[in-house]
Amino acid sequence: MINFLIILFPALIILLFLSLIGFLLFILASAFYSDFVGAPYIQNDDKVIKESLKLANVSKKTKLIDLGSGNGKVLRMAEKDFKTTNTLGYELAPWPYFLSKLHKTKTIRKSIFDADLDDCDVVYVYLLPKLLKKLSDKFAKLKIQNPKVKIVSPVFKIEGLIPKKVIDCYHKGFKKMVSIYLY
Ligand SMILES: C[S@@+](CC[C@H](N)C(=O)[O-])C[C@H]1O[C@@H](n2cnc3c(N)ncnc32)[C@H](O)[C@@H]1O
Repeated sequence: MINFLIILFPALIILLFLSLIGFLLFILASAFYSDFVGAPYIQNDDKVIKESLKLANVSKKTKLIDLGSGNGKVLRMAEKDFKTTNTLGYELAPWPYFLSKLHKTKTIRKSIFDADLDDCDVVYVYLLPKLLKKLSDKFAKLKIQNPKVKIVSPVFKIEGLIPKKVIDCYHKGFKKMVSIYLY
């Protein structure tokens, strides 16, 4: 019995260590992947998210889509604070996608460029300007198809589109005022 334990204990320690390394590699690979697809996985400030959703008039009836939804925090805030029931996120990176599934947020593992925005009311995007620029044609077409659709982009403006309204909000993480753009 003691001999068995002497073998089992180190084997368990090694297994635990390897699992930890595997887990860290998974998070690291996911972070590289987010960077590679164009936007790092960074959560936005709660107040900025709330003001963005308010600016876009998000309500119970809104169909809200978050392009690059990370761990789904924005969608959960909309559900909690604005009672929104129709929410959907698009996220490619494995780690934030896994987290959003863990939180039971409705998320599709698909590129934002293939997102179906046809019947949505509000599109939320917290992405870097270069990615927003690539999306601007898709947004311009969507606006023609559905003039009532609102696109809200905290912090970064979308090159190629003219905002309908811009408000300023204090960002705790950045320790400065940022703009929120409504299109
Ligand atoms: C800055 S985070 C925003 C997270 C969340 N929307 C928020 O505001 O807290 C951007 C997210 O977009 C995802 N992303 C970047 N490019 C993508 C693409 N082409 N398709 C799907 N997701 C993408 C990244 O993996 C990352 O999780």
